[in-house]
Amino acid sequence: MSALSPLVELEPEALRCPAGVYERLRDEGVHYAPEIDAFVVARHDDVVRVLRDGRTFSSRNTVGRILPPADPANPKQPLSPLLLLSDAPEHTTRRSIVNRAFTPSKIAAWEPQVRQIAEEHVDRLRELADVDLVRDLAALLPVRVISMVLGVPLEDVAKFREWSEEITASVGNHGGDPVRREQVQDAFSGYISRLLDQWDGTVDTSVLSQIAAVERAGELTRRQCVSFVVELIVAGNITTTHHIASSIALLGSTPGLVEQLRADPALVQNFIEESLRLEAPIQGFYRLAMADAEVGGVTIPEGSRVFVLYGSANRDEQAWAECPHLRLDRPNAAAHLAFGKGAHACLGSSLARLEGRVVIEVLLDRLADLELLAAPEDLPYLKSFVNHGPVSLPARLRFREPVPAHEVAP
Ligand code: HEM
Repeated sequence: MSALSPLVELEPEALRCPAGVYERLRDEGVHYAPEIDAFVVARHDDVVRVLRDGRTFSSRNTVGRILPPADPANPKQPLSPLLLLSDAPEHTTRRSIVNRAFTPSKIAAWEPQVRQIAEEHVDRLRELADVDLVRDLAALLPVRVISMVLGVPLEDVAKFREWSEEITASVGNHGGDPVRREQVQDAFSGYISRLLDQWDGTVDTSVLSQIAAVERAGELTRRQCVSFVVELIVAGNITTTHHIASSIALLGSTPGLVEQLRADPALVQNFIEESLRLEAPIQGFYRLAMADAEVGGVTIPEGSRVFVLYGSANRDEQAWAECPHLRLDRPNAAAHLAFGKGAHACLGSSLARLEGRVVIEVLLDRLADLELLAAPEDLPYLKSFVNHGPVSLPARLRFREPVPAHEVAP
């Protein structure tokens, strides 16, 4: 047993607010936790040390078990290893190729469309008798946005959503039906492969066209292209849903916050960073020690699993002034570790930040009042100590009346 136990045992209070558990873990320093058969790294500087040293701390073990090497001859293995689970030099090469489709300027250009999608979803809430802001907003938006960014045909978005939800769920639910999982993976891979076949040779803003061009240039194989698209879905869906949900929960439960953000909308970006810091949607991830290594004065033996806690690093008083408080004026607000650090730092961080900011801006614009119907301590959280976020946010909303046409400035 270690101080991590309340989280591993999925105690609701610890899942909702793991701050107390993390404080004890940081006090203990780096130590072995038998519950997860891994060394736990919780202090900010130690987390950074591990994430920066990909040579010593391999990503091959991030899902907690060592994956067999990919077998190109096996047709039942349609996916090549995810970026998330690969190491240099293969990771470096593939990452530098896919980075091109996700530069901050390319993502920033999607803002008008993301806003339109967010407005559509928020406006639809007007028609609902009872509103759950996870079910009716946070869970719907990310897959819609990623479908658009990829360039999935509009008529297929529902199918795409269904498959991506199955795959996303299966990542966190290894007890699911393996036959169904394989069917969905086959259908999904076949679908992406057909879209790549249909590519007309034009490179536009869609990520699929950019990936198809990379395939044609011989930089990535078909399997790598398909695997990359599936990875985007898996990595960017639940995480962004949780980020939006946690941001709304903070918005609805922090006195004076709505008024502050309305008075100075430029602060919404810092609010998004603080929400990521305090409620990191991925609280921690695994690495595998490839050699004996010293972290925080403790030797981690070669072959050990290591659990790095971004969520705890984000709440380390050695790194953050007034650490437990949501502060809109932090000069280093974006320096949190919610997107990781080093070679594997999140590829989709610009997109996730854009989605989070735009949803909050649209809610502030459309709503006169947002009342959460459950107290923060009663909100149910996902039963996971890796992914973190509320799974339901029942709310009563009061919309602003649409501004009459004659009051709109010319
Ligand atoms: C708020 C939402 C998100 C959070 C908190 C988040 C968090 C993370 C973290 C912590 C990692 C690094 C894992 C590690 O250290 O091994 C990561 C990697 C990754 N993320 Fe995100 N992510 C989010 C949204 C997205 C989105 C929207 C996309 C895609 C559109 C995406 C795609 C990826 C990919 C492809 C990787 C693997 C990068 C690599 O290994 O080189 N993520 N994410």
